[in-house]
Amino acid sequence: THNIKIAPSILSADFAKLGEEVAAIDAAGADYIHIDVMDGHYVPNITIGPDVVKALRPHTDKVFDVHLMIAPVDPYIQAFADAGSDIITIHAEAGPHLHRSLQLIKSLGKKAGVSLNPSTPESMIEYVMDLVDLVLVMTVNPGFGGQKFIPSQLEKIKRIRKMIDATGRHIDLEVDGGVNPEIARDVIAAGADVLVAGSATFKGGPSQYAPNIKAIRGA
Ligand code: DX5
Ligand code: ZN
Repeated sequence: THNIKIAPSILSADFAKLGEEVAAIDAAGADYIHIDVMDGHYVPNITIGPDVVKALRPHTDKVFDVHLMIAPVDPYIQAFADAGSDIITIHAEAGPHLHRSLQLIKSLGKKAGVSLNPSTPESMIEYVMDLVDLVLVMTVNPGFGGQKFIPSQLEKIKRIRKMIDATGRHIDLEVDGGVNPEIARDVIAAGADVLVAGSATFKGGPSQYAPNIKAIRGA
């Protein structure tokens, strides 16, 4: 078994007090802070821009795991890098030149992630594995928290685990969407080692963040 990291998605936080929320999940044991960036174009919702990421940066020292659901993405990568992102994840489907976009992230000294929608096969990333530090498997259609996990993605997670192991490098295998303690067990068994959890982290309010994270980690 591997070392499991929990990445609470602040999409389910109280947006009126995001700084406090980030500090609270840090204290509650989050490994990464998962920040969902949506543009109302690539996905049907609008959330957070680089200025908000920058404003949150002083509130925690934890890794900022920034999930960009925007197209075009290249014009905004520099701004998210400057804002204090540690990992910048882009969607394989969001632009015509995935390799170039990943090179741009690496050139800025950031870790590069690539995300795959539920309908996208793992073969899409076969020729960029040397550039990636994280693969994000979407287990819901991107756009909203609180959706139901799509079980067909377990097979994809297993296949990507094999692809990662074949590289001989450490690459995070992150799963995003519908993760709760029961689902966590299944995705960990399939080979995932970073679990995003939005609603499962934030449900019940601040007093529950630590037990909620513990329940997912303990799966
Ligand atoms: C969905 C986002 C997810 C979302 C997960 O597009 O990428 O990170 O916040 O929320 P839950 O864990 O509630 O499915
Ligand atoms: Zn996400």
